[in-house]
Amino acid sequence: MSKRELIDILNKEKMLSHEQWCELLTDFSEEDRLFAGELALKITEANFGKNVFFRGIIEFSNICKNDCYYCGIRRSNKEAQRYRLSEEEILLCCREGYRLGYRTFVLQSGEDNYWTDDRITTLIGCIKAEYPDCAITLSIGERSRESYEAMFNAGADRYLLRHETADKDHYARLHPEAMSFENRMLCLNDLKEIGFQTGCGIMVGTPYQTIETLAKDMEFMGEFKPEMVGIGPFIPHKDTPFANCETGDRELTLFLLSLTRIMLPEVLLPSTTALGTVASDGRIQGVLAGCNVVMPNLSPQNVRKSYMLYDNKAGSELSAQESLRLLQKQMESIGKTIVIGRGDHIRYKGKCEEND
Ligand code: 5AD
Repeated sequence: MSKRELIDILNKEKMLSHEQWCELLTDFSEEDRLFAGELALKITEANFGKNVFFRGIIEFSNICKNDCYYCGIRRSNKEAQRYRLSEEEILLCCREGYRLGYRTFVLQSGEDNYWTDDRITTLIGCIKAEYPDCAITLSIGERSRESYEAMFNAGADRYLLRHETADKDHYARLHPEAMSFENRMLCLNDLKEIGFQTGCGIMVGTPYQTIETLAKDMEFMGEFKPEMVGIGPFIPHKDTPFANCETGDRELTLFLLSLTRIMLPEVLLPSTTALGTVASDGRIQGVLAGCNVVMPNLSPQNVRKSYMLYDNKAGSELSAQESLRLLQKQMESIGKTIVIGRGDHIRYKGKCEEND
């Protein structure tokens, strides 16, 4: 079967068999990628018009108990300058963000034990009290179901936890033994059941990734039906075991983003910072390939350089305002509009409607 036929089937059925995914992802041409990209852009504009949602990401701690082989803030990286923002500093970021027009705050950190359920739910409560019209997205890793429930009850709306790979053996080659594929999947299922708008996703081009593992990723996402999907290229970090590995492929990343849009037409799909790091127009390319979210950095300038998951991360020299203006300009250059609003997933809109 031709790649175009496979893409048409995906568009109609919203799924492909494992064999079909493998066939589609093997030796695709530039024309195949652009074919998928145009279809994905059409689907995106049918669902969201020219709108792109923007979220302010606050990287509030780079202290992490985990030791993922790919990640620059892994526990064993003694070169990383560790920091943790205080509650007041985080609230100041929100204040600046609100002033700039953000209506979603993404709180991301390493898996930092300081942030107990008590502390994080108090923080969520403070932000929600001050900004009841804003959504809170958490991206703070694996926790217990009780912890997720407590954070949801405190008012958190969304949760990002990339599955990283849907292949158990591949998972074990990216993470030390203390982490397990089973627990990752358990966390994702808990988050969804609890009622979070839930995001999963992968890095493209991690060591040991194959067409087979990518096919499994796409199959998993088709079944899990996440509200959000994060896909960006793997970029090596110099102080990790994967320092000498290759950067993930930009075209493959864009192709996978487009296929994700075709499979999950309503998904919230960010054009990632990692994509913007491998090419200066990467985030534009992402939006033209079907992305509908950008996440400018809202962290204080003095800690940005310390939140280095990978080398040369884009935007680490800019202020919050500059980060936003740059992305705004990039989006306007392709006829897109950055919209102020929470930007919930369509399935969750009713619950938060006065806010959009
Ligand atoms: N390159 C690209 N993305 C990375 N992440 C972590 N390390 C890297 C890297 N070296 C991604 C992971 C994680 C998310 C927060 O950042 O997918 O889930």
